[in-house]
Amino acid sequence: MRIESSKQITDNENFFIERVAINDSRRPDEILSIEELEKYSSFKIPKRKKEWLAGRFAAKTVINKLLNSSFSLKEIPITYDANRRPLCLLNGKEYPLSITHSGDWAAAIVKDENCGFLGLDIEKIEVRSKLWAEDYFHKDETEDGTPEHLTKLWTIKEAILKALGIGLTANLLDIKIARQCGSATLLRQQASEGQAARPSTPFLCIDKSAKADGEIRFFNKVLLKYEEIGKPKFDIISERFSENYYQSIVRQLVN
Ligand SMILES: CC(C)(COP(=O)(O)OP(=O)(O)OC[C@H]1O[C@@H](n2cnc3c(N)ncnc32)[C@H](O)[C@@H]1OP(=O)(O)O)[C@@H](O)C(=O)NCCC(=O)NCCS
Repeated sequence: MRIESSKQITDNENFFIERVAINDSRRPDEILSIEELEKYSSFKIPKRKKEWLAGRFAAKTVINKLLNSSFSLKEIPITYDANRRPLCLLNGKEYPLSITHSGDWAAAIVKDENCGFLGLDIEKIEVRSKLWAEDYFHKDETEDGTPEHLTKLWTIKEAILKALGIGLTANLLDIKIARQCGSATLLRQQASEGQAARPSTPFLCIDKSAKADGEIRFFNKVLLKYEEIGKPKFDIISERFSENYYQSIVRQLVN
């Protein structure tokens, strides 16, 4: 399995991401425990098998990096929490992870055990229909309707929903991202604008192509869940890679 990138993103935090190309070159029994092999065998669709295996490979590898350990990958159990968020339980400690796969790529991210709010999403940049954009994005968000921009917004929204542990059981319209997320344009707080507008969530948007902070707002189920978990401050890091993919990371900021 080719490893495309493996890095500690910041200097002062335990925070690792691993992105791997999905292919057949690794044997499942080199990566998976007996229980995981059973689950792997239960998948009927070859694509699902490959992406699930690649996700586990990435997840187990980041755990070894985080712990500076060299456990055999089979010895690192990756399960799910009650919300289906991936989780590693090792030596009595919990390590919440986020896993993603799209097209040729799978990736996993982990931070130390204090980080309960962590989401990662990769999506292939593709031309999608106008109806698709209308279903998932606010009008403001689609002013730049390029496939690249919309894919980036999609990855940000999905990463947030994964961090919240609600996935696509929530409506993507319950997240509104500033028009130029990461550039100078800020979305103003206007109570009249949103269905249930509340003070917006400050966040720092680090984008390789932009320089300033952005702003984001949550509504309905997303807002309720965010409030329920204590409104953690977070930042977003988006990057385009391998020509036609976008990746976004949402991670809790530690004070
Ligand atoms: C989470 C979700 C948004 C991911 O969508 P996707 O297009 O498959 O995107 P990705 O490949 O980027 O992410 C898949 C990973 O998200 C993780 N995930 C699944 N549910 C999650 C949740 N509620 N919260 C956080 N992460 C979740 C899993 O690790 C999964 O990978 P795995 O199956 O290999 O373990 C989507 O699966 C979802 O909304 N699930 C909840 C709703 C649901 O369960 N529907 C039934 C589907 S059959």
